[in-house]
Amino acid sequence: MLLLTLETTCDETAAAVVDEQAQVLSSVVASQDELHVRFGGVVPEIAARAHLERILPVIDEALRRANIDLTDLNAVAVATTPGLAGSLLVGLSAAKSLALALGIPLVAVDHLQAHVYACQMAAGSPVYPCVALVASGGHTSLFRCRSAIDFELLGGTIDDAAGEAFDKVAALLGLPYPGGPAIERAAQGGNPRAVRLPRSFLDEPDRLEFSFSGLKTAVRYLLYGQGKPVDQPPALSQQELADLTASFQEAVVDCLVAKAQAALRLTGLTTLCVAGGVAANARLGQRLRQAAASRHGFDLQLAPRALCTDNAAMGAVAVERLRAGLFETLELDAKPGLVRPGR
Ligand code: KG4
Ligand code: ZN
Repeated sequence: MLLLTLETTCDETAAAVVDEQAQVLSSVVASQDELHVRFGGVVPEIAARAHLERILPVIDEALRRANIDLTDLNAVAVATTPGLAGSLLVGLSAAKSLALALGIPLVAVDHLQAHVYACQMAAGSPVYPCVALVASGGHTSLFRCRSAIDFELLGGTIDDAAGEAFDKVAALLGLPYPGGPAIERAAQGGNPRAVRLPRSFLDEPDRLEFSFSGLKTAVRYLLYGQGKPVDQPPALSQQELADLTASFQEAVVDCLVAKAQAALRLTGLTTLCVAGGVAANARLGQRLRQAAASRHGFDLQLAPRALCTDNAAMGAVAVERLRAGLFETLELDAKPGLVRPGR
């Protein structure tokens, strides 16, 4: 059985071909970073238009790399939630058209369940039940995952997402979009304790929420002064930049690690899956491995770097919905959810 999966929730146009064992035959991602870089974040209208231009060539390339034709497909899956409305609609319309034209089942994918499924695909063995931390540009959420397709939200950010904080702080520093990789590079050789920065809710151990907007504002005041407009980024020496970015990164990582551990403690679960763009951060990975190996240890399943940022291969979670007999009709709609545009 061959399944085509589509992903257009934000600013990556992606298609993959997977089989019934969730093995990936091909995976193609067309990134739009170069279109959004000068705005310091994703512009929803530009993202939707770019998806429209790229979706068919990306599908063609995924089929070509898998060495199959459209008529070899047995089902088509598409990420329908959460995401940017205009972006989601492009993938959804393409998937519906294929399902109708080829007479094959249509499967809906939850983008956050797909991010977590990347951990299972890498592990090669079941990771559920587990706690999952999904940290990306649009989300920072903790879930109790009963299965690949049965998630309960335990808590999340009350303002900015972790990746959004990386992107905004990078913009304040004059570093390019996406900010996560740029800050990670700049932080090399920096002292993570050089600059004191706030860490929200760490004094409330049972609270499974995050807040990163105060941290972002603290960096802004440090750089530009309180109540001053943000104009030209101030000139910092390489060491000052390294120290500030390392301190910022450490503050985000402290919150992510502490709340993930709290979720494990409060649920009694012993496996932690960590996925989403921010899971690609090497310092986060290092701190999670330390925590996993500590006295109150846990089984850590970190998504592999290649499957952290948005891609369609993780849409293989659709196989689990197919197994459960969960198909959709052509009435299927996109549910944008809580993703806030513009970052
Ligand atoms: O999962 P993703 O590709 O898209 C969303 O669903 O949002 O995540 C993109 C986010 C961006 O905010 C980006 O800055 C962040 O993930 N990111 C990172 C790293 N690589 C990507 N954040 C920290 N460190 C990284 N190495
Ligand atoms: Zn994502």
